[in-house]
Amino acid sequence: MTAQPTAIHRRDYRAPDFRIETVELEFDLQPEATRVKSKLAVVPQTPGAPLKLDGEDLELLSVVIDGRKLAPADYKVDEHGLTIPAVPSVPLTLEIETKVNPKGNTHLSGLYQSSGVYCTQCEAQGFRRITYFPDRPDVMSIYRVTIRADRKANPVLLSNGNLLEEGSLSDGRHYAVWHDPFPKPCYLFALVAGDLAVNEDEFVTRSGRKVALRIFVEHGKVPRTVYAMDALKRSMRWDETRFDLEYDLDLFNIVAVSDFNMGAMENKSLNVFNDKYILADPDTATDADYAGIEAVVAHEYFHNWTGNRITCRDWFQLSLKEGLTVFRDQEFTSDMRSRPVKRIQDVRVLRARQFPEDAGPLAHPIRPDSYIAIDNFYTPTVYEKGSEVIRMIHTMLGEAGFQKGMRLYVERHDGEAATCDQFVAAMADANTVDLSQFQRWYSQAGTPEVTVEGRYDAQSGDYELTVTQIVPPTPGQPDKQPVQMPFGIGLLDAQGRDIALKAEAAEMPRPGLLNLTAPKQTFRFKGVPEPKAISLNRGFSAPVIVKAKQPGEAQAFLMAHDSDAFARWEAGQQYATELLLARVADPSRPFDPAFIEAIGQTLRDDKLEQAFIAEAITLPSEDYIADRMAVVDVDGIHAARRALRLEIVSKYRKQFEETYSRNTTPGAYSPDAASAGRRALKNAALSYLSELADEEAGLRRLIFDQYSKADNMTDRAAALRLLVDIAGEEREAALADFYQRFADDALVLDKWLMLQAISSLPDTLDKVRSLLKHPAFSMQKPNKVRSLIGAFTANALRYHAADGSGYAFHADRMLELEPINPQVAARLLAPLGRWRRFDAGRQEKMKAELRRVLAKPNLSRDVYEIASKSLEN
Ligand code: PHE
Ligand code: ZN
Repeated sequence: MTAQPTAIHRRDYRAPDFRIETVELEFDLQPEATRVKSKLAVVPQTPGAPLKLDGEDLELLSVVIDGRKLAPADYKVDEHGLTIPAVPSVPLTLEIETKVNPKGNTHLSGLYQSSGVYCTQCEAQGFRRITYFPDRPDVMSIYRVTIRADRKANPVLLSNGNLLEEGSLSDGRHYAVWHDPFPKPCYLFALVAGDLAVNEDEFVTRSGRKVALRIFVEHGKVPRTVYAMDALKRSMRWDETRFDLEYDLDLFNIVAVSDFNMGAMENKSLNVFNDKYILADPDTATDADYAGIEAVVAHEYFHNWTGNRITCRDWFQLSLKEGLTVFRDQEFTSDMRSRPVKRIQDVRVLRARQFPEDAGPLAHPIRPDSYIAIDNFYTPTVYEKGSEVIRMIHTMLGEAGFQKGMRLYVERHDGEAATCDQFVAAMADANTVDLSQFQRWYSQAGTPEVTVEGRYDAQSGDYELTVTQIVPPTPGQPDKQPVQMPFGIGLLDAQGRDIALKAEAAEMPRPGLLNLTAPKQTFRFKGVPEPKAISLNRGFSAPVIVKAKQPGEAQAFLMAHDSDAFARWEAGQQYATELLLARVADPSRPFDPAFIEAIGQTLRDDKLEQAFIAEAITLPSEDYIADRMAVVDVDGIHAARRALRLEIVSKYRKQFEETYSRNTTPGAYSPDAASAGRRALKNAALSYLSELADEEAGLRRLIFDQYSKADNMTDRAAALRLLVDIAGEEREAALADFYQRFADDALVLDKWLMLQAISSLPDTLDKVRSLLKHPAFSMQKPNKVRSLIGAFTANALRYHAADGSGYAFHADRMLELEPINPQVAARLLAPLGRWRRFDAGRQEKMKAELRRVLAKPNLSRDVYEIASKSLEN
């Protein structure tokens, strides 16, 4: 980058000057010199406009308009694309030939090779790395694709849509022709060619269409695709029954590759996956891996309607497809598994990833107003907060009203590139409601803070609730407007039952759901008994931070009695957070016995599902506590949290041991939610017991035995997770054994790298450094980089070492990675941007590393954007 990269603004959107009706592509695949011929039916929309095509890292071979070859003087080529100043204003045929190098493409964007398999990744702007094209989602075309390749190396040739033709060529090559009848933006184009094994199955849609389902993987891995196939079929059925959406082609292909920048990609009828989200068997995948596979397979499938049939007008509208599709996959999981447990887990993720983003230098609304590199906006805000915004609409309208809105949205926009405003308009029109204030959620960044104060008048029996909200300032948005939100509440009587509440419909559209709209609102509930406790933001109905003061006793009461499972879990989290913050401030301060008592009660409560108990006894993370401090004290937080865990396990040791053995059930492994819940609870109990293991050889043995005797990866990895924090021979023996067992399984070795990187032991950084040279690590492979370097930067205790060694290590690695894969480097740089949260010494060291990154010549747009915003804001 010679000049400083400039930002693209949402307000500058203009409809395209050219439509491309059809695209005919011909690929002659060669590892280092693939020829790409493209033939475009171009329809000018703006007479006289120059034809500008995006292109990057391409070798241009020829340009032909209506059969006439252009001379170099007829067009201009630079590092961003190709411009043809004078084109006819009538429909024309444009033919372009380019050459690309798939093998040398380490950015993993465009056409690249992963373990010898050719594959493409075009979202958001990878198609321009294949051929010159108007690379924007509002240009939608019908594609016909011919692939030619060596037959022996590439028996499988795939693209979008239907296979029209295949056959042999000379020199051991063969070809296939694919045609996709649905117009699509180029970011949904995909091609795969290679030597792959396949799991084939079939799905019959509700209207009787037979769909061939295929999952392609490396040879030998077909047995590990069984669960993904099952998840795919369940997703297809669920979308019919819950959303009334049916699949629209006769085949659906998934390809798993080991080198992938993200989780997976929804290309029309040819989803490409990071193999982490496909491959599973009991020996190599944990319960969390199975759940991840189910969710991602569903997510990509659901994009067929919310993303592909209806796509985004421009990249500022990314949350139109991502927020909605995350909402849909979360609902799918909730219907398949435990709804409350899913809600708790989603809120944990939101708080761990999105809240910090919203409070930091990279804060942006779910519909951003500007970007330098769009790849940087595949964020927890666009995805997870985007989903929360959709969920609020769902909560306000109810399931029936929401589905009415969905039907109108599909009716109006099928086959189009739409906007977030159009989505909200469909929801509003279908239900004749006004969502104009609600739309501020799309334009304002920052997590709203809601303060609640309750007052009971014993004389009149009135309960008065005063609710105030503020949306905090964020970079570029100093002043905010109040937002509309549905806010779930409940009052509990002395027996722990819900007190019936009556209020005006405008204030409380549905029982227990307040309609918040103003900076300050007062709600009055008449003639109620004195409440023992108040339950707030039930179901996490709004993605906000709630500030309310309740005595510890009331919080313990909610932990035992709240009828809303989410709020019951939340009471424990908030109570624990208060105690931990107080302990950090004053290390001699004792923990409330009422909290410890409530944890014991939860552990004993056999009416609760195991997965819920596991969540409820797990204390808030160190990062969550850190987010609540003005100046983070990493060591203090670590010590306080361990002290509370130690006190809990000391008091309930017997119960933990019983819980552990009661939930250690013999029999074949099954990944279903109930069995996974039992394992989660058993491993949560073991985790508590491990607090005593430094002192007790017997407990170290117990953990080591679980490690070595486990018949499934969930239990094995859970034990290893505990052992990596306990110096000693068990630790070293287990790590060595794990490597031996799985030495040729890249996905499992990712866990091995990650567990060593998150260890709390003091020599962790040295270990991580030496692992950089281990054959299990590679800077070219995003999964490896995330498992080792990404995991280390999430290890607050060691990453934030006061001497700055963690920061320097981080910046060094990012400088190495940046030329190889700028997208992944940019995403992994974010932790340095949290400098404001730390003491002056750490602040200076973090900023110095950011400056060092920024000073690198020829910095990519991706890394430039994250580093510069992290320093400025
Ligand atoms: N659109 C993909 C998804 O959400 C994510 C993705 C973005 C994948 C960019 C690759 C590149 O499912
Ligand atoms: Zn998505």
